[in-house]
Amino acid sequence: MLPTALLLFASAALTTAAPVIDRSTGPSCEASHQAPALPKTGGVSELPDPDSGLTLKHIALGFGIQNYTCSQVGTSSTAAGALAMLYDITNLYPNQGGDSLSQKDFENLTSKALWTHPVPLRMNHNAPGASRTNPFPRDAPLRLKGTRPLPFLGHHYFDAAGVPTFDLDGGKIHLPCTKISQVNPPSGADAGPEGTGAVTWLYLGGNAGAIGAKYVYRVLTAGGVSHGCKTTGTDSTSYTATYWFYG
Ligand SMILES: *[C@@H]1O[C@H](CO)[C@@H](O)[C@H](O)[C@H]1NC(C)=O
Ligand SMILES: *[C@@H]1O[C@H](CO)[C@@H](O)[C@H](O)[C@H]1NC(C)=O
Repeated sequence: MLPTALLLFASAALTTAAPVIDRSTGPSCEASHQAPALPKTGGVSELPDPDSGLTLKHIALGFGIQNYTCSQVGTSSTAAGALAMLYDITNLYPNQGGDSLSQKDFENLTSKALWTHPVPLRMNHNAPGASRTNPFPRDAPLRLKGTRPLPFLGHHYFDAAGVPTFDLDGGKIHLPCTKISQVNPPSGADAGPEGTGAVTWLYLGGNAGAIGAKYVYRVLTAGGVSHGCKTTGTDSTSYTATYWFYG
């Protein structure tokens, strides 16, 4: 009872205080709390906008690897899942509050992480990719130079049936999903330290069993494209992206 009563009291206090604010000067309240807008490629094709009835739940920085397999040298590789740690960057979006970055720095976060920090997975030393049994390190923030530690938010992986899945926010969001559409990243997108190119931007919809969110977009990608098939077997490329969860 008590927390509810306090909340009611707090919101009543806010409501009564509101008319005192002078809106004639300075940036308006509305402008400074504008909902973050899903990035656009600026190219010929764009992902569909999120439905107006949906709410943005989280913006995450995903940092990990895209996996590929090659059955024959010289052919093109087959995508074989991905693994990524997710960090909460919702508050870093411009004009949200004290942690907000400039538009330029926000859009460059994926590059900054990918170029200045090792992949935060338990990587294999004598084979490509990450540990097959225990790929994720302990839940911990990502520390990049000159930025507040980015809080740990969750994991991205492909389940045993090959379904792309996101688990975040301490179990509040479980999102096994299916690709709805994809577009090419902007022409100037970061090809990554391995120089292979930035993976596509995606729009994914939740499958039956999704909890806490319905859609996720993968945008502002850096790196992650396959090295091609110089040998057979599995291979992986480091990547970062921002993931926007709506529900
Ligand atoms: C983006 O980040 C990369 C890697 O840290 C850096 O080299 C580059 O100068 C940054 N670009 C912008 C526009 O800030
Ligand atoms: C590649 O990703 C899949 C799906 O998440 C994972 O099961 C597998 O262990 C990864 N393989 C390597 C070599 O990292």
